Amino acid sequence: MILWRSLDLPRRVMRRLKGDKRDYRHFLFEDLKAKLGGRQVTNVLEIGPMEADDTQRLLTLAPDRLTLAEMPQWKDHLDKNLAAKGIADQVEIRVGNVMYDTMFDDIVPFDLIWCTGVLYHNPEQLRMLARLYDWLAPDGLLVMETATARRGLLRGQNCVEIWHDQPKAAMSRVHLSANVTHVPSRKAVGAWLAMVGFDEIALSTCHARQSFSLAQNRVAYIARRAAETEPESYYIHSGRTFPIGRAL
Ligand SMILES: C[S@@+](CC[C@H](N)C(=O)[O-])C[C@H]1O[C@@H](n2cnc3c(N)ncnc32)[C@H](O)[C@@H]1O
Repeated sequence: MILWRSLDLPRRVMRRLKGDKRDYRHFLFEDLKAKLGGRQVTNVLEIGPMEADDTQRLLTLAPDRLTLAEMPQWKDHLDKNLAAKGIADQVEIRVGNVMYDTMFDDIVPFDLIWCTGVLYHNPEQLRMLARLYDWLAPDGLLVMETATARRGLLRGQNCVEIWHDQPKAAMSRVHLSANVTHVPSRKAVGAWLAMVGFDEIALSTCHARQSFSLAQNRVAYIARRAAETEPESYYIHSGRTFPIGRAL
Protein backbone atom coordinates (compact mmCIF):
# COMPACT_ATOMS: atom_id res chain seq x y z
CA MET A 1 0.00 0.00 0.00
CA ILE A 2 2.89 2.34 0.82
CA LEU A 3 4.24 1.62 -2.66
CA TRP A 4 0.93 2.58 -4.27
CA ARG A 5 0.67 5.71 -2.14
CA SER A 6 4.14 6.87 -3.09
CA LEU A 7 3.81 6.08 -6.81
CA ASP A 8 1.31 8.85 -7.48
CA LEU A 9 2.36 11.18 -4.67
CA PRO A 10 3.71 13.88 -7.01
CA ARG A 11 0.49 13.87 -9.01
CA ARG A 12 -1.64 14.09 -5.87
CA VAL A 13 0.47 16.93 -4.51
CA MET A 14 0.14 18.83 -7.79
CA ARG A 15 -3.61 18.39 -7.74
CA ARG A 16 -3.83 19.66 -4.20
CA LEU A 17 -1.65 22.68 -5.02
CA LYS A 18 -3.94 23.46 -7.96
CA GLY A 19 -7.00 23.15 -5.68
CA ASP A 20 -8.34 20.26 -7.78
CA LYS A 21 -10.94 18.62 -5.51
CA ARG A 22 -12.43 16.20 -8.06
CA ASP A 23 -12.81 12.69 -6.65
CA TYR A 24 -13.61 9.29 -8.14
CA ARG A 25 -17.34 10.04 -8.13
CA HIS A 26 -16.75 12.97 -10.45
CA PHE A 27 -14.63 10.82 -12.77
CA LEU A 28 -17.14 7.96 -12.71
CA PHE A 29 -19.92 10.32 -13.70
CA GLU A 30 -17.72 11.62 -16.54
CA ASP A 31 -17.30 8.02 -17.70
CA LEU A 32 -21.05 7.52 -17.59
CA LYS A 33 -21.65 10.62 -19.71
CA ALA A 34 -19.09 9.40 -22.23
CA LYS A 35 -20.86 6.03 -22.35
CA LEU A 36 -24.23 7.68 -22.86
CA GLY A 37 -22.75 9.75 -25.67
CA GLY A 38 -25.55 12.29 -25.47
CA ARG A 39 -28.30 9.67 -25.23
CA GLN A 40 -31.19 10.98 -23.12
CA VAL A 41 -32.09 8.97 -20.02
CA THR A 42 -35.68 9.11 -18.84
CA ASN A 43 -36.20 6.83 -15.86
CA VAL A 44 -33.28 6.70 -13.41
CA LEU A 45 -32.78 4.88 -10.11
CA GLU A 46 -30.10 5.76 -7.56
CA ILE A 47 -29.59 3.30 -4.70
CA GLY A 48 -28.18 4.54 -1.38
CA PRO A 49 -27.71 8.24 -2.22
CA MET A 50 -26.86 9.21 1.37
CA GLU A 51 -25.11 12.60 0.89
CA ALA A 52 -26.93 13.18 -2.43
CA ASP A 53 -23.76 14.39 -4.20
CA ASP A 54 -24.31 11.91 -7.02
CA THR A 55 -28.01 12.76 -7.01
CA GLN A 56 -27.07 16.29 -7.94
CA ARG A 57 -24.88 14.97 -10.75
CA LEU A 58 -27.61 12.65 -12.03
CA LEU A 59 -30.07 15.53 -12.19
CA THR A 60 -27.80 17.25 -14.69
CA LEU A 61 -28.80 14.46 -17.12
CA ALA A 62 -32.33 15.91 -16.93
CA PRO A 63 -34.21 12.60 -16.56
CA ASP A 64 -38.03 12.64 -16.54
CA ARG A 65 -37.91 10.77 -13.27
CA LEU A 66 -35.15 10.22 -10.68
CA THR A 67 -36.03 7.75 -7.93
CA LEU A 68 -33.86 7.42 -4.83
CA ALA A 69 -33.90 4.19 -2.82
CA GLU A 70 -32.73 4.50 0.76
CA MET A 71 -32.89 2.48 3.97
CA PRO A 72 -35.35 3.78 6.59
CA GLN A 73 -32.63 4.71 9.09
CA TRP A 74 -31.02 7.11 6.57
CA LYS A 75 -34.20 8.80 5.33
CA ASP A 76 -33.92 11.88 7.58
CA HIS A 77 -30.26 12.28 6.70
CA LEU A 78 -31.10 12.11 3.01
CA ASP A 79 -34.00 14.57 3.39
CA LYS A 80 -31.63 17.08 5.01
CA ASN A 81 -29.02 16.71 2.29
CA LEU A 82 -31.57 17.07 -0.50
CA ALA A 83 -33.04 20.15 1.18
CA ALA A 84 -29.59 21.69 1.69
CA LYS A 85 -28.88 21.22 -2.02
CA GLY A 86 -32.31 22.58 -2.99
CA ILE A 87 -33.19 19.48 -5.02
CA ALA A 88 -35.77 17.75 -2.81
CA ASP A 89 -38.62 18.53 -5.20
CA GLN A 90 -36.79 17.03 -8.18
CA VAL A 91 -36.61 13.46 -6.87
CA GLU A 92 -38.86 10.77 -5.46
CA ILE A 93 -37.68 8.80 -2.43
CA ARG A 94 -38.62 5.17 -1.90
CA VAL A 95 -37.71 3.84 1.52
CA GLY A 96 -36.84 0.19 2.01
CA ASN A 97 -34.29 -2.52 1.41
CA VAL A 98 -33.85 -3.06 -2.33
CA MET A 99 -32.94 -6.69 -1.71
CA TYR A 100 -36.03 -7.75 0.17
CA ASP A 101 -38.76 -5.14 -0.32
CA THR A 102 -40.97 -4.72 -3.36
CA MET A 103 -40.31 -1.11 -4.18
CA PHE A 104 -40.34 -0.43 -7.89
CA ASP A 105 -42.98 -2.64 -9.53
CA ASP A 106 -44.95 0.40 -10.69
CA ILE A 107 -41.97 2.23 -12.21
CA VAL A 108 -39.65 -0.36 -13.78
CA PRO A 109 -37.88 -0.60 -16.16
CA PHE A 110 -35.16 1.96 -15.56
CA ASP A 111 -32.81 3.03 -18.29
CA LEU A 112 -30.07 3.87 -15.80
CA ILE A 113 -29.29 2.50 -12.33
CA TRP A 114 -26.56 4.23 -10.29
CA CYS A 115 -25.34 2.08 -7.40
CA THR A 116 -22.14 3.19 -5.68
CA GLY A 117 -20.82 2.07 -2.31
CA VAL A 118 -23.77 -0.27 -1.77
CA LEU A 119 -22.95 -3.80 -3.02
CA TYR A 120 -20.44 -4.67 -0.29
CA HIS A 121 -22.99 -3.82 2.42
CA ASN A 122 -25.13 -6.68 1.13
CA PRO A 123 -24.11 -10.32 1.59
CA GLU A 124 -26.26 -11.65 -1.28
CA GLN A 125 -24.30 -9.84 -3.94
CA LEU A 126 -24.89 -12.02 -6.98
CA ARG A 127 -28.60 -11.85 -6.27
CA MET A 128 -28.45 -8.09 -5.95
CA LEU A 129 -26.83 -7.79 -9.38
CA ALA A 130 -29.51 -10.08 -10.85
CA ARG A 131 -32.23 -7.86 -9.36
CA LEU A 132 -30.65 -4.76 -10.83
CA TYR A 133 -30.38 -6.46 -14.21
CA ASP A 134 -34.06 -7.39 -14.08
CA TRP A 135 -35.04 -3.77 -13.32
CA LEU A 136 -33.21 -2.40 -16.36
CA ALA A 137 -34.75 -1.85 -19.75
CA PRO A 138 -33.03 -3.50 -22.74
CA ASP A 139 -29.99 -1.34 -23.53
CA GLY A 140 -30.14 0.14 -20.00
CA LEU A 141 -26.96 0.94 -18.08
CA LEU A 142 -25.82 -0.05 -14.61
CA VAL A 143 -23.13 1.94 -12.83
CA MET A 144 -21.78 -0.43 -10.19
CA GLU A 145 -19.11 0.80 -7.79
CA THR A 146 -18.00 -1.06 -4.68
CA ALA A 147 -15.27 -1.66 -2.15
CA THR A 148 -13.18 -4.71 -3.03
CA ALA A 149 -11.06 -7.45 -1.42
CA ARG A 150 -8.43 -6.29 1.06
CA ARG A 151 -6.29 -9.32 1.83
CA GLY A 152 -2.92 -9.21 0.03
CA LEU A 153 -2.84 -11.61 -2.90
CA LEU A 154 -6.61 -12.19 -2.78
CA ARG A 155 -7.11 -8.78 -4.33
CA GLY A 156 -6.08 -10.15 -7.72
CA GLN A 157 -8.06 -13.40 -7.47
CA ASN A 158 -11.61 -14.18 -8.53
CA CYS A 159 -13.01 -14.48 -5.02
CA VAL A 160 -15.06 -13.08 -2.15
CA GLU A 161 -13.50 -12.34 1.22
CA ILE A 162 -15.63 -13.13 4.26
CA TRP A 163 -15.08 -10.74 7.14
CA HIS A 164 -17.46 -12.39 9.58
CA ASP A 165 -16.72 -12.19 13.28
CA GLN A 166 -13.51 -10.22 12.91
CA PRO A 167 -12.13 -7.89 15.58
CA LYS A 168 -13.20 -4.31 14.93
CA ALA A 169 -9.56 -3.21 14.95
CA ALA A 170 -8.69 -5.66 12.14
CA MET A 171 -11.52 -4.26 10.03
CA SER A 172 -10.72 -0.64 10.62
CA ARG A 173 -7.07 -1.32 9.71
CA VAL A 174 -8.29 -2.13 6.18
CA HIS A 175 -10.94 0.63 6.22
CA LEU A 176 -13.99 -1.65 6.40
CA SER A 177 -16.89 -0.85 8.67
CA ALA A 178 -17.86 -3.47 11.24
CA ASN A 179 -21.18 -4.35 9.54
CA VAL A 180 -19.50 -5.49 6.30
CA THR A 181 -19.23 -9.27 5.86
CA HIS A 182 -18.69 -10.04 2.15
CA VAL A 183 -16.10 -8.17 0.14
CA PRO A 184 -15.73 -9.27 -3.50
CA SER A 185 -12.61 -8.91 -5.59
CA ARG A 186 -12.76 -6.73 -8.68
CA LYS A 187 -12.71 -9.86 -10.86
CA ALA A 188 -15.63 -11.36 -8.93
CA VAL A 189 -17.81 -8.32 -9.55
CA GLY A 190 -16.97 -8.40 -13.26
CA ALA A 191 -17.69 -12.14 -13.43
CA TRP A 192 -21.05 -11.78 -11.68
CA LEU A 193 -22.09 -8.98 -14.01
CA ALA A 194 -21.44 -11.29 -16.96
CA MET A 195 -23.19 -14.23 -15.28
CA VAL A 196 -26.43 -12.35 -14.70
CA GLY A 197 -26.49 -11.29 -18.34
CA PHE A 198 -24.80 -7.92 -18.78
CA ASP A 199 -22.73 -7.33 -21.87
CA GLU A 200 -20.30 -4.47 -22.55
CA ILE A 201 -18.93 -4.58 -19.02
CA ALA A 202 -16.53 -1.64 -18.98
CA LEU A 203 -14.07 -1.09 -16.15
CA SER A 204 -13.87 2.55 -15.08
CA THR A 205 -10.52 4.06 -14.13
CA CYS A 206 -12.23 6.58 -11.87
CA HIS A 207 -10.41 5.46 -8.70
CA ALA A 208 -6.93 5.49 -10.21
CA ARG A 209 -7.59 9.05 -11.39
CA GLN A 210 -8.07 10.01 -7.74
CA SER A 211 -5.29 7.86 -6.27
CA PHE A 212 -3.55 4.57 -7.03
CA SER A 213 -4.15 3.24 -3.52
CA LEU A 214 -7.90 3.84 -3.85
CA ALA A 215 -7.83 1.80 -7.06
CA GLN A 216 -6.45 -1.12 -5.02
CA ASN A 217 -9.46 -1.05 -2.73
CA ARG A 218 -12.43 -0.30 -4.97
CA VAL A 219 -13.79 -1.03 -8.42
CA ALA A 220 -16.36 0.51 -10.74
CA TYR A 221 -17.98 -0.93 -13.83
CA ILE A 222 -20.44 0.50 -16.29
CA ALA A 223 -22.43 -2.40 -17.69
CA ARG A 224 -25.07 -2.52 -20.38
CA ARG A 225 -28.04 -4.84 -20.43
CA ALA A 226 -28.25 -6.50 -23.81
CA ALA A 227 -30.90 -5.10 -26.12
CA GLU A 228 -32.48 -8.55 -26.15
CA THR A 229 -32.16 -11.04 -23.31
CA GLU A 230 -30.41 -14.17 -24.49
CA PRO A 231 -31.24 -17.50 -22.82
CA GLU A 232 -27.46 -18.10 -22.81
CA SER A 233 -27.13 -15.32 -20.32
CA TYR A 234 -28.42 -17.77 -17.72
CA TYR A 235 -26.28 -20.34 -15.98
CA ILE A 236 -26.63 -23.75 -17.62
CA HIS A 237 -25.54 -26.93 -15.89
CA SER A 238 -26.14 -30.62 -16.70
CA GLY A 239 -28.59 -29.71 -19.43
CA ARG A 240 -30.79 -27.63 -17.12
CA THR A 241 -30.99 -23.86 -17.06
CA PHE A 242 -30.79 -22.25 -13.66
CA PRO A 243 -31.60 -18.55 -13.61
CA ILE A 244 -28.60 -17.41 -11.67
CA GLY A 245 -29.19 -15.14 -8.71
CA ARG A 246 -32.96 -15.47 -9.00
CA ALA A 247 -34.29 -17.59 -6.15
CA LEU A 248 -37.96 -18.59 -6.20
C1 LIG B 1 -21.59 3.60 2.09
S1 LIG B 1 -23.11 4.35 1.68
C2 LIG B 1 -22.78 4.87 0.04
C3 LIG B 1 -23.37 6.22 -0.24
C4 LIG B 1 -23.11 6.78 -1.64
N1 LIG B 1 -23.84 6.05 -2.67
C5 LIG B 1 -21.66 6.77 -1.95
O1 LIG B 1 -21.23 6.17 -2.93
O2 LIG B 1 -20.92 7.39 -1.19
C6 LIG B 1 -24.20 2.98 1.45
C7 LIG B 1 -25.61 3.39 1.15
O3 LIG B 1 -26.33 2.31 0.59
C8 LIG B 1 -27.55 2.13 1.28
N2 LIG B 1 -27.88 0.71 1.17
C9 LIG B 1 -27.08 -0.34 1.39
N3 LIG B 1 -27.73 -1.50 1.17
C10 LIG B 1 -28.99 -1.16 0.80
C11 LIG B 1 -30.14 -1.92 0.46
N4 LIG B 1 -30.12 -3.24 0.46
N5 LIG B 1 -31.27 -1.24 0.13
C12 LIG B 1 -31.30 0.11 0.13
N6 LIG B 1 -30.22 0.88 0.44
C13 LIG B 1 -29.08 0.25 0.78
C14 LIG B 1 -27.25 2.62 2.68
O4 LIG B 1 -28.41 2.95 3.40
C15 LIG B 1 -26.38 3.84 2.37
O5 LIG B 1 -27.15 4.95 2.02
